Amino acid sequence: MASIDPKYSIGIAEMDAQHARWIQYIDEFRATASGHLLEPAGVDAALHTLEQLLNYTRMHFASEERFIETHHYPDLEAHRHAHRELEAEVVKLLDEIRSHKTRTAPLKLNLFVTVWLMQHIMQEDDKYARFILGRSPPG
Ligand SMILES: [Fe+2]
Ligand SMILES: [Fe+2]
Repeated sequence: MASIDPKYSIGIAEMDAQHARWIQYIDEFRATASGHLLEPAGVDAALHTLEQLLNYTRMHFASEERFIETHHYPDLEAHRHAHRELEAEVVKLLDEIRSHKTRTAPLKLNLFVTVWLMQHIMQEDDKYARFILGRSPPG
């Protein structure tokens, strides 16, 4: 199982493990997207890693939504909405790369992933974690 960088840990083992794997997919995409998007092979590689990232993102979000629903997280609907928006952004990016609109802006692709996906863990996911852990009995 992948281990999480402590700065991204929300303190819930099951979700930390998924986030660790998710971050690996993000890193793989960043590595390809920062490379050779002016060459067809580079575009194909970026598309491939982004498709993998999208698949894992959907799996993780569905799993996380079930998890926080089980724990009666009061902001479940807002969290679901944030997930749908992030998924839509990833799909949009996939479409843009497919249509070669963004091949000249690899740096922007890196920032997109870093800012939107990673911030979601540290801000929104951390909120439900604090709620759930706060409700846990001591010890
Ligand atoms: Fe998450
Ligand atoms: Fe989330």
